[in-house]
Amino acid sequence: MSIKSMVAYNGREIPKEDKVFAASGAALDAVEKYGKANVINATVGALYDDEGDLLVLKSVEKAMKSLPAPSFAAYAPIAGTPGFKDAILKAALYGFEPKSYTAVVGTPGGTGAIRNSIANYSEPGDKILVPNWHWAPYKSISNELYRDVERFQMFNDKGGFNLEDFEYKVKKLTRNQEHLVIILNTPANNPTGYALTMDDWYGVKKVLDEVSLEKKIALVLDVAYIDFAGDPREVRSFFSVIDNLRTNVLPIIAYSASKTFTLYGARCAAMICFAHNPEVAEEFVKVNSFSCRNTWSNSSRAPQEVIERIYADPELFKVVEEERAAAREMLLARGRGFEEEAKKVGLDIVPFSAGFFVTVPCSDPDALAEELKKKNAFVIPLATGGIRISVASSSEAKCRKLPGLIKEAMENLGM
Ligand SMILES: Cc1ncc(COP(=O)(O)O)c(C=O)c1O
Repeated sequence: MSIKSMVAYNGREIPKEDKVFAASGAALDAVEKYGKANVINATVGALYDDEGDLLVLKSVEKAMKSLPAPSFAAYAPIAGTPGFKDAILKAALYGFEPKSYTAVVGTPGGTGAIRNSIANYSEPGDKILVPNWHWAPYKSISNELYRDVERFQMFNDKGGFNLEDFEYKVKKLTRNQEHLVIILNTPANNPTGYALTMDDWYGVKKVLDEVSLEKKIALVLDVAYIDFAGDPREVRSFFSVIDNLRTNVLPIIAYSASKTFTLYGARCAAMICFAHNPEVAEEFVKVNSFSCRNTWSNSSRAPQEVIERIYADPELFKVVEEERAAAREMLLARGRGFEEEAKKVGLDIVPFSAGFFVTVPCSDPDALAEELKKKNAFVIPLATGGIRISVASSSEAKCRKLPGLIKEAMENLGM
């Protein structure tokens, strides 16, 4: 008898295929067959221009292409080059001056920052607290690390942030766990586009203020889409709240260069802590560097050099800012366009503020995604009861067309 499986699965459930890649593969096949103009590919988690090509900031492209060989070929220090760490901190804070002690560890993408946060601020067997609408890798990363997720309902029946369920789950988990990692992806949440309001944040602070000081909480702020969520200073207003939490809470910002600098494949990001004292900040660097060393070793040097250059050259910085602002306006217009048309045709969407994605709740996401394929519209069916539409990857005209198509498809299916 031949052996059919050699892997030690260790309790992980590994699907046959990744739904995102399967849907985007089908969209690409349709593009090949029918041409870009006739296909709506709303599957992609990257910003595309109106012609359907990946949008790369020209200034970033130029800086990348001008790097001398040692700047991309040499190893970077484990936690990132000193120039990169200074620059990425500036990019993340955008003028905000925390009273906390900040420290930076470079990682390959926001994914690495999330992975290290879970690995180092929770124990095997712990539950990581995430909202029911969340980026799927939060669960699979947790599972890889012998943890699991506990979900709180993100919205109440008035369409606001469900602080009651958040509080209930924080209390439930801290009863049995010494450590608790909480991941909040805001603003421009994936997949909903929701952003916690300042009132939501005061509520979150109140809940965390009530947790016993014996319990240690890592509050991971996954801000992957923050620079496309609105005015850069305004969308960071909540930093004043996380800068003011009790000593048993360590805020960690997972700040990615993937979207901010359109460097998705270059794999560059940083985890940044807001610590109450230098010891916790130093420990953050020591422990997370250790994890980097033993997971992927050092991160890619080229994007670090590019980001350092951008912040060392005021002219270049200005161009990057201008280009990003134009791209952001384009994206915001697409989101507004989708929202307006959804209202017109009476299509319900999950509360949306801004970002790469909009979610339409439905009872059978797979069936709806299949039905939409018949119209050459491609979306991602979510296990959490909805379809995710990327407004980042389609023109405003296509974003405006989609709500009518979705409404019609739902009616065809009797939804
Ligand atoms: C919510 C969220 N967090 C984090 C990431 C991580 O991205 P990266 O590892 O490319 O920085 C993504 C990417 O799609 C995301 O959607």
